[in-house]
Amino acid sequence: MKTIVVYRSKKGYTESYAKEIGKQLDADVYELGQLSTLMLKNYDMIIFGGGIYSDKINGIDDFINLTGKALDKRILIFGVGMSPVFNEYIEKLYKINIEKKFSQDAKFFFFRGGVHMDRLTTIERKVLLAFLKVTEIFQESYTDVTTNSKPSDDVLDFSTPEYADALIQYVQGNG
Ligand SMILES: Cc1cc2nc3c(=O)[nH]c(=O)nc-3n(C[C@H](O)[C@H](O)[C@H](O)COP(=O)(O)O)c2cc1C
Repeated sequence: MKTIVVYRSKKGYTESYAKEIGKQLDADVYELGQLSTLMLKNYDMIIFGGGIYSDKINGIDDFINLTGKALDKRILIFGVGMSPVFNEYIEKLYKINIEKKFSQDAKFFFFRGGVHMDRLTTIERKVLLAFLKVTEIFQESYTDVTTNSKPSDDVLDFSTPEYADALIQYVQGNG
């Protein structure tokens, strides 16, 4: 089965996962902007990953536009976010981003990502802090969140290549 991995990543976390998956599955890896409908004819399976921003998988609409009619392809999606892994949130992401949007079945995986607080714009920081407040990350690792103060070298990184194992094993088991 010939597989392509496509990603959209703002800060590099999704890109790292995409490259890891590409390496493990011996698949081609492309940034979403490089992809054309024509290119897809060479592949049987398309894996798309995007960072999650305010519950939306970055790039998913462009990806759907490119692949919506590719009915003969198998589609897998992964989202990369800061949320802890819990089913209610993963189901919510599926409903918002994937359910009823694809003509074919699209399986969804969630991996944890990260962020360099000091590299965010003021608006990004506000949006992210609001999100973190409603998750357990707030207690878990960023106790200073209520003051909005930010040590300049503060990195929150929950990513680990092991998250990608579930997707890789799924593909290998369903090839
Ligand atoms: C402005 C902003 C909003 C975010 N919103 C969410 C969110 O709704 N859910 C989530 O799980 N993570 C959220 N995150 C965390 C990002 O998804 C996380 O940093 C991820 O690693 C980004 O992947 P990327 O670097 O590949 O774009 C947000 C981050 C920022 C900066």
